[in-house]
Amino acid sequence: MSDEVFYLTTPIYYPTADPHIGHAYTTIAGDFIARFRRLQGRRVHYLTGTDEHGQNIQRRAQQRGQTPREFLDAILPKWKAVWDALDISYDDFIRTTEPRHEQAVAAFVQALHDTGDVYLGTYRGLYCLGCEAFKTPDELVDGRCPLHDLVPEEVEEDNYFFRLSRYRERLIELYETTDIVQPEARRNEVLGKVRQGLEDLSISRVSFDWGVPVPWDPKHVIYVWVDALLNYVTAIGYGTDPARFDAVWPADLHLIGKDILWFHTVIWPAMLMALDLPLPRRVFAHGYLLVRGEKMSKTRLTSISPHELVDAFGSDACRYYFMRDIPFGGDSSFSWEALRDRYNTDLANDLGNLVSRVLNMAERYLDGIVPEPPRRDEIGASEDELRATFHAAVADMTAGIDTIAPHEALRAAWRFVRKANAYVEEVAPWTLARDPGERRHLEVVLYVLLDSLRLIALTLHPAMPRSTREIWRRLGYTDGLEAPNLPDHGRWDLLPAGAEVTKGPPLFPRHEAT
Ligand code: MSP
Repeated sequence: MSDEVFYLTTPIYYPTADPHIGHAYTTIAGDFIARFRRLQGRRVHYLTGTDEHGQNIQRRAQQRGQTPREFLDAILPKWKAVWDALDISYDDFIRTTEPRHEQAVAAFVQALHDTGDVYLGTYRGLYCLGCEAFKTPDELVDGRCPLHDLVPEEVEEDNYFFRLSRYRERLIELYETTDIVQPEARRNEVLGKVRQGLEDLSISRVSFDWGVPVPWDPKHVIYVWVDALLNYVTAIGYGTDPARFDAVWPADLHLIGKDILWFHTVIWPAMLMALDLPLPRRVFAHGYLLVRGEKMSKTRLTSISPHELVDAFGSDACRYYFMRDIPFGGDSSFSWEALRDRYNTDLANDLGNLVSRVLNMAERYLDGIVPEPPRRDEIGASEDELRATFHAAVADMTAGIDTIAPHEALRAAWRFVRKANAYVEEVAPWTLARDPGERRHLEVVLYVLLDSLRLIALTLHPAMPRSTREIWRRLGYTDGLEAPNLPDHGRWDLLPAGAEVTKGPPLFPRHEAT
């Protein structure tokens, strides 16, 4: 067990509108990984937050006749409420308008200036407000930015520039010699682009003032993306708590969407290189969640609130569906039908039925009392096989998480659920129950099944924290559950004999098509 903190981040979201399931997708994935690492006994720091500066926020507020702060304070509770509804276990939530962040951003940019990597120049270009970034003509389609379907604005102003071009060779070497950018296709994409050339980056604006002032020239505000990327270090004490910063940085994993690859794999490492700071270990870019074949968008009315899904299916089922059904990496479509199918097949049938059957039999045949665990000589080939399946599932789940493939991790966990179902059929406890001579055999089989439920709940806990706790409650199992973990609890025969089992209502009642 390592004492080193596993530091994991989501992008910080623009709170210009309400959160939708595209945002939830990234945050659920981060939560699944964070909880799995905790389950392994690791110390974890899971960070999320909101990106609150920039022209876009200022304009939205103006349109509503509010100050940016009023606008933000009104919308922020909605973001936090969504993460609560989805049981997101973040350890910190950073807002870029907090003093701890603003101070540290000013300190970072001052340090960048002190290295000689910042100079004053003039920028002429096309600025997309949706991306909060300048666009080159070849990035536009019919004069519009395809990412946000907006016509960029022509801008000409004096800006400070960061000598990004200086870092081209070092960046190329980084992509060629490390696995920092994943998946592979994204690494090749960014490598190809950087090979084509790298221009210096404009890092300040004078046309509006909703941002962190440039310390040596406060009529400029710091470019929102430089400000935003720094959240990953300011949140853990850069510029305010050096000892903490040294203990937590570098990040083990930045989870991002593919639209913000350039910022995270070119600009961010170069900023860190400029100050000789360690680089994040891994940046993983996932694809889009599509609705009716398109990236979800408020303006196209394809935006879906996570609350709608949670209200219909519960948070665990939504988390499970996103992690199991939408492979990480490429684009994938969301559909209500797929969610319902996944729910009915995996949760109502495979898992829900197993839990009901086993608890039912425990009530019926054992008066709801957990029997003595089997002695070594009471374990047969079928039990051995079931036990081995659990250990293999944990190993494969771990490999799935290590390679940022949540769907593989859950697929592996499900092999154990299926195996437990097959074991029920094979040993047919209802036939043993008819024969008084088989009493101890029946107890052994039901103990193995009850203990399997405990272990199934352990493997599924990172994906479904609520129902797995409910399974433990029904098993009368309370030991160490504040911090369930594999090293302590991932062994057989830990369910205490004599505990009282309760059947309870179906965990996942079937959903019929409406
Ligand atoms: N504020 C910046 C990120 C700064 S990180 C230092 C930003 N915010 S965003 O709210 O527009 O997007 C945040 C993340 O949500 C991005 O990774 C983006 O890819 C993701 N998604 C937004 N819509 C999405 C889908 N439809 N599907 C999957 N992810 C989506 O960019």
